[in-house]
Amino acid sequence: MFNEIINMFKKKGDFVSGEEMSKKLGITRAAIWKKIKILRGAGYKIQASTAKGYKLIKTPEFSVEELRTLIRGDIGREIIFFESIGSTNTAALELAEKGAPHGTVVIADRQTKGKGRLGRTWVSPPKKNIYMSVILRPELEPKDATLLTIMTAVSCAKGVMKSTGLKAEIKWPNDLMISNKKLGGILTEMKSDPDGIVFAVIGIGINVNSKTKKDFPPDIRGIATSIKEELGKIQSRTFIIAEILKELEHWYKVLLNEGRKPLFDEWKRLSSTLGRKVRVTAGDNVFTGVAEDIDKGGMLILRLPSGMLKKISSGDLTMMR
Ligand code: BTN
Repeated sequence: MFNEIINMFKKKGDFVSGEEMSKKLGITRAAIWKKIKILRGAGYKIQASTAKGYKLIKTPEFSVEELRTLIRGDIGREIIFFESIGSTNTAALELAEKGAPHGTVVIADRQTKGKGRLGRTWVSPPKKNIYMSVILRPELEPKDATLLTIMTAVSCAKGVMKSTGLKAEIKWPNDLMISNKKLGGILTEMKSDPDGIVFAVIGIGINVNSKTKKDFPPDIRGIATSIKEELGKIQSRTFIIAEILKELEHWYKVLLNEGRKPLFDEWKRLSSTLGRKVRVTAGDNVFTGVAEDIDKGGMLILRLPSGMLKKISSGDLTMMR
């Protein structure tokens, strides 16, 4: 219902009379007034005039109702929003287990137990950043789950670029970077059985409006950035999420219909890693060399100083020059 009200405002771009709204939505004018009050409470600035009706003046920085109006495809057709949750990935895993359909998206304003890669914590200050998990039910073998992470990295980089104009890059394995600082990350979790992947949950964390000095602990301040830090002003999470979900819809279809090649080509175009001298910490091992390529399973191919090639499946990568 809220989506429809917002859509009516946007379509008209001017006052919409209470009568017109009540006819279109099939509810009384008193009920419309109640909804307007709820929207105002959620941060919408709506002008009311006894003669002319209602006019939308300003939308809030984030609104799940507005987000729903922007989604056309399968991914995001079901959006579940929490003001506060332990982890959107954990919530999405539970929902998927209970049968939530392909394309369900879980979004939170705040995470109290945000999970990062390699068992780390994902710092998740309230009402600032994107914390979102997407449930996918692809017909893929578990060994190909990396394709989903690669697809997500490509979609996030492109979604951020399209919605903000910033140049986002991907650092292997799947860090989103701007100006060599970490903007976001992806955590893929899944359930599989002998027949393949039952469902996958792709967790996306993107720093949008956080201030790195104030919102992040000292150890990550110097290596993290946010869209606000880069652009100097608050950005709408609604539009960034909408762009990312649109890209995911596109790249998921590309993956299913055309295979992995177009996806890998795009990942390589967006990569800040390939061709660079890097140091990779993988468990207790540290390797240095030139990042030559990624193989078809997403493993990093490193040219060691000896000239030999070394494939690495996961780890922490630092650019050396
Ligand atoms: C990384 O370590 O780079 C991956 C970070 C992934 C964070 C996101 S935030 C939304 C989703 N829920 C979580 O608990 N983690 C992921």
